[in-house]
Amino acid sequence: MVALDLPSAQEALAMAGRLAGRVGMLKVGLELFCAEGPAFVRELQKQVPVFLDLKLHDIPTTVRRALEAVLKLDPRLVNVHVQGGPAMLEAAVEAVRAHRAAGGRTELLGVTVLTSLDREAMAALGHAGRAEDLALAYAKLARQAGCDGVVCSAWEAATIREACGEGFHCLTPGIRPAGAALQDQARVMTPAQALKQGSTWLVVGRPITHAADPATAAEAIVAEMEA
Ligand code: C5P
Repeated sequence: MVALDLPSAQEALAMAGRLAGRVGMLKVGLELFCAEGPAFVRELQKQVPVFLDLKLHDIPTTVRRALEAVLKLDPRLVNVHVQGGPAMLEAAVEAVRAHRAAGGRTELLGVTVLTSLDREAMAALGHAGRAEDLALAYAKLARQAGCDGVVCSAWEAATIREACGEGFHCLTPGIRPAGAALQDQARVMTPAQALKQGSTWLVVGRPITHAADPATAAEAIVAEMEA
Protein backbone atom coordinates (compact mmCIF):
# COMPACT_ATOMS: atom_id res chain seq x y z
CA MET A 1 0.00 0.00 0.00
CA VAL A 2 1.20 3.49 -0.75
CA ALA A 3 1.16 6.24 1.88
CA LEU A 4 -0.41 9.30 0.27
CA ASP A 5 1.46 11.78 2.47
CA LEU A 6 0.52 14.72 0.29
CA PRO A 7 -0.98 18.10 1.27
CA SER A 8 -4.03 18.32 -0.98
CA ALA A 9 -6.78 16.23 -2.56
CA GLN A 10 -5.66 17.41 -5.97
CA GLU A 11 -2.13 16.05 -5.54
CA ALA A 12 -3.36 12.88 -3.85
CA LEU A 13 -5.88 12.09 -6.58
CA ALA A 14 -3.23 12.73 -9.25
CA MET A 15 -0.87 10.29 -7.48
CA ALA A 16 -3.69 7.73 -7.09
CA GLY A 17 -4.29 8.01 -10.83
CA ARG A 18 -0.62 7.37 -11.62
CA LEU A 19 -0.62 4.30 -9.37
CA ALA A 20 -3.97 2.88 -10.51
CA GLY A 21 -3.83 -0.89 -10.98
CA ARG A 22 -0.35 -1.12 -9.40
CA VAL A 23 -1.18 -0.92 -5.68
CA GLY A 24 -3.64 -2.82 -3.54
CA MET A 25 -4.52 -0.04 -1.12
CA LEU A 26 -3.82 3.63 -0.42
CA LYS A 27 -3.11 5.05 3.02
CA VAL A 28 -4.68 8.36 4.03
CA GLY A 29 -3.03 9.78 7.13
CA LEU A 30 -3.67 12.72 9.41
CA GLU A 31 -2.19 15.35 7.09
CA LEU A 32 -4.52 14.58 4.21
CA PHE A 33 -7.58 13.77 6.34
CA CYS A 34 -7.26 17.02 8.32
CA ALA A 35 -6.85 18.96 5.08
CA GLU A 36 -9.52 17.32 2.95
CA GLY A 37 -11.82 15.36 5.26
CA PRO A 38 -14.31 12.52 4.68
CA ALA A 39 -15.54 13.74 1.28
CA PHE A 40 -12.07 13.21 -0.18
CA VAL A 41 -11.86 9.68 1.26
CA ARG A 42 -15.25 8.88 -0.26
CA GLU A 43 -13.95 10.05 -3.65
CA LEU A 44 -10.69 8.10 -3.38
CA GLN A 45 -12.49 4.92 -2.38
CA LYS A 46 -14.25 4.88 -5.72
CA GLN A 47 -10.83 3.98 -7.16
CA VAL A 48 -9.09 1.85 -4.54
CA PRO A 49 -9.56 0.56 -0.95
CA VAL A 50 -8.31 2.98 1.71
CA PHE A 51 -6.48 2.52 5.00
CA LEU A 52 -7.59 5.45 7.14
CA ASP A 53 -4.49 5.94 9.31
CA LEU A 54 -5.87 8.25 12.01
CA LYS A 55 -4.21 6.49 14.99
CA LEU A 56 -7.04 7.37 17.38
CA HIS A 57 -6.11 7.66 21.07
CA ASP A 58 -8.58 9.01 23.64
CA ILE A 59 -11.05 7.85 26.30
CA PRO A 60 -13.17 4.84 25.22
CA THR A 61 -16.38 6.74 24.46
CA THR A 62 -14.63 9.37 22.37
CA VAL A 63 -12.76 6.76 20.34
CA ARG A 64 -15.93 4.72 19.81
CA ARG A 65 -17.84 7.78 18.56
CA ALA A 66 -15.02 8.95 16.32
CA LEU A 67 -14.79 5.46 14.85
CA GLU A 68 -18.54 5.28 14.32
CA ALA A 69 -18.24 8.52 12.33
CA VAL A 70 -15.39 7.33 10.07
CA LEU A 71 -16.84 3.84 9.67
CA LYS A 72 -19.63 5.45 7.65
CA LEU A 73 -16.94 5.68 4.93
CA ASP A 74 -16.39 1.90 5.18
CA PRO A 75 -12.58 2.14 4.84
CA ARG A 76 -10.73 -1.14 4.37
CA LEU A 77 -8.63 -0.52 7.52
CA VAL A 78 -8.69 1.85 10.52
CA ASN A 79 -6.39 2.04 13.54
CA VAL A 80 -6.14 3.13 17.18
CA HIS A 81 -3.18 3.42 19.55
CA VAL A 82 -2.89 0.34 21.79
CA GLN A 83 -1.57 2.73 24.44
CA GLY A 84 -5.16 3.90 24.95
CA GLY A 85 -5.58 0.76 27.07
CA PRO A 86 -7.85 -2.32 27.15
CA ALA A 87 -11.16 -0.48 27.65
CA MET A 88 -10.45 1.86 24.75
CA LEU A 89 -9.43 -1.08 22.54
CA GLU A 90 -12.61 -2.95 23.46
CA ALA A 91 -14.75 0.11 22.65
CA ALA A 92 -13.02 0.33 19.25
CA VAL A 93 -13.51 -3.39 18.60
CA GLU A 94 -17.22 -3.11 19.48
CA ALA A 95 -17.67 -0.24 17.00
CA VAL A 96 -15.91 -2.13 14.21
CA ARG A 97 -17.73 -5.39 14.90
CA ALA A 98 -21.10 -3.61 14.85
CA HIS A 99 -20.11 -2.07 11.51
CA ARG A 100 -19.16 -5.47 10.07
CA ALA A 101 -22.36 -7.06 11.39
CA ALA A 102 -24.21 -4.42 9.38
CA GLY A 103 -22.35 -5.44 6.20
CA GLY A 104 -19.21 -3.28 6.47
CA ARG A 105 -15.74 -4.56 5.58
CA THR A 106 -13.47 -2.56 7.89
CA GLU A 107 -10.75 -4.27 9.92
CA LEU A 108 -9.16 -2.69 13.01
CA LEU A 109 -5.44 -2.48 13.70
CA GLY A 110 -3.69 -1.43 16.92
CA VAL A 111 -0.64 0.81 16.65
CA THR A 112 2.10 -0.71 18.83
CA VAL A 113 5.19 1.50 19.24
CA LEU A 114 5.87 4.31 16.78
CA THR A 115 8.98 3.52 14.75
CA SER A 116 10.12 7.10 15.41
CA LEU A 117 10.63 6.38 19.14
CA ASP A 118 14.24 5.55 19.99
CA ARG A 119 15.59 4.31 23.33
CA GLU A 120 16.03 7.85 24.65
CA ALA A 121 12.43 8.81 23.82
CA MET A 122 11.17 5.55 25.35
CA ALA A 123 13.10 6.34 28.56
CA ALA A 124 11.67 9.88 28.62
CA LEU A 125 8.21 8.30 28.45
CA GLY A 126 9.03 6.06 31.42
CA HIS A 127 9.71 2.82 29.52
CA ALA A 128 12.97 1.26 30.69
CA GLY A 129 12.80 -1.70 28.33
CA ARG A 130 13.26 -2.22 24.61
CA ALA A 131 10.75 -1.02 22.01
CA GLU A 132 10.57 -4.58 20.63
CA ASP A 133 9.38 -5.98 23.95
CA LEU A 134 6.80 -3.24 24.41
CA ALA A 135 5.55 -3.77 20.84
CA LEU A 136 5.06 -7.48 21.54
CA ALA A 137 3.20 -6.76 24.79
CA TYR A 138 1.00 -4.22 22.98
CA ALA A 139 0.32 -6.69 20.16
CA LYS A 140 -0.85 -9.29 22.69
CA LEU A 141 -3.12 -6.69 24.28
CA ALA A 142 -4.55 -5.77 20.87
CA ARG A 143 -5.15 -9.45 20.10
CA GLN A 144 -6.82 -10.03 23.45
CA ALA A 145 -9.16 -7.07 22.91
CA GLY A 146 -10.19 -8.44 19.51
CA CYS A 147 -8.24 -6.24 17.07
CA ASP A 148 -7.60 -7.81 13.66
CA GLY A 149 -3.90 -6.97 13.72
CA VAL A 150 -1.28 -4.36 14.50
CA VAL A 151 0.92 -1.74 12.92
CA CYS A 152 4.51 -2.63 13.80
CA SER A 153 8.07 -2.58 12.50
CA ALA A 154 8.93 -5.45 10.17
CA TRP A 155 11.65 -6.27 12.68
CA GLU A 156 8.92 -7.31 15.14
CA ALA A 157 6.51 -8.95 12.70
CA ALA A 158 7.81 -12.53 12.99
CA THR A 159 7.74 -12.53 16.81
CA ILE A 160 4.29 -10.95 16.87
CA ARG A 161 2.88 -13.41 14.33
CA GLU A 162 4.30 -16.30 16.34
CA ALA A 163 2.74 -15.02 19.57
CA CYS A 164 -0.58 -13.86 18.13
CA GLY A 165 -1.27 -16.43 15.42
CA GLU A 166 -1.22 -16.62 11.62
CA GLY A 167 -4.52 -14.83 11.10
CA PHE A 168 -3.37 -11.75 13.04
CA HIS A 169 -2.26 -9.04 10.60
CA CYS A 170 1.06 -7.20 10.80
CA LEU A 171 1.05 -4.01 8.76
CA THR A 172 4.59 -2.72 8.42
CA PRO A 173 5.81 0.74 7.41
CA GLY A 174 9.52 1.55 7.23
CA ILE A 175 10.01 -0.30 3.95
CA ARG A 176 12.94 0.64 1.74
CA PRO A 177 14.09 -1.15 -1.43
CA ALA A 178 17.82 -2.01 -1.25
CA GLY A 179 19.88 1.15 -1.76
CA ALA A 180 16.96 3.57 -1.30
CA ALA A 181 17.32 6.67 0.89
CA LEU A 182 16.23 6.11 4.51
CA GLN A 183 14.93 9.68 5.02
CA ASP A 184 13.72 9.80 8.65
CA GLN A 185 13.18 6.04 8.97
CA ALA A 186 15.70 4.13 11.08
CA ARG A 187 14.70 0.48 11.37
CA VAL A 188 13.90 -0.40 7.78
CA MET A 189 13.58 -3.61 5.78
CA THR A 190 13.40 -4.33 2.07
CA PRO A 191 10.03 -5.46 0.68
CA ALA A 192 11.30 -9.04 0.29
CA GLN A 193 12.69 -9.18 3.84
CA ALA A 194 9.49 -7.75 5.32
CA LEU A 195 7.37 -10.37 3.55
CA LYS A 196 9.65 -13.13 4.84
CA GLN A 197 9.10 -11.80 8.37
CA GLY A 198 5.38 -12.30 7.93
CA SER A 199 4.15 -8.79 7.11
CA THR A 200 0.57 -8.88 5.82
CA TRP A 201 0.74 -5.42 4.23
CA LEU A 202 3.73 -3.26 3.38
CA VAL A 203 3.35 0.52 3.61
CA VAL A 204 5.62 2.40 1.23
CA GLY A 205 5.59 6.17 0.99
CA ARG A 206 8.43 8.30 -0.32
CA PRO A 207 10.31 5.57 -2.26
CA ILE A 208 7.25 5.64 -4.53
CA THR A 209 5.68 9.09 -4.12
CA HIS A 210 9.03 10.95 -4.43
CA ALA A 211 10.29 8.82 -7.32
CA ALA A 212 10.69 10.47 -10.72
CA ASP A 213 8.25 7.87 -12.02
CA PRO A 214 6.03 6.56 -9.17
CA ALA A 215 4.35 3.92 -11.34
CA THR A 216 7.68 2.33 -12.29
CA ALA A 217 8.89 2.49 -8.67
CA ALA A 218 5.70 0.75 -7.51
CA GLU A 219 6.01 -1.91 -10.21
CA ALA A 220 9.61 -2.66 -9.18
CA ILE A 221 8.53 -3.18 -5.56
CA VAL A 222 5.62 -5.42 -6.58
CA ALA A 223 8.02 -7.45 -8.76
CA GLU A 224 10.38 -7.88 -5.79
CA MET A 225 7.46 -9.02 -3.62
CA GLU A 226 6.26 -11.50 -6.23
CA ALA A 227 9.79 -12.88 -6.71
O1 C5P B 1 7.69 7.62 3.24
P1 C5P B 1 7.67 6.40 4.11
O2 C5P B 1 7.77 5.11 3.34
O3 C5P B 1 8.69 6.49 5.23
O4 C5P B 1 6.21 6.42 4.77
C1 C5P B 1 5.84 5.58 5.80
C2 C5P B 1 4.44 5.86 6.22
O5 C5P B 1 4.11 5.02 7.29
C3 C5P B 1 4.18 7.29 6.71
O6 C5P B 1 2.87 7.64 6.30
C4 C5P B 1 4.25 7.19 8.22
O7 C5P B 1 3.40 8.12 8.85
C5 C5P B 1 3.72 5.77 8.43
N1 C5P B 1 4.15 5.14 9.68
C6 C5P B 1 5.48 4.94 10.01
N2 C5P B 1 5.81 4.34 11.20
C7 C5P B 1 4.84 3.93 12.04
C8 C5P B 1 3.50 4.12 11.71
C9 C5P B 1 3.19 4.73 10.50
O8 C5P B 1 6.38 5.29 9.24
N3 C5P B 1 5.18 3.32 13.15
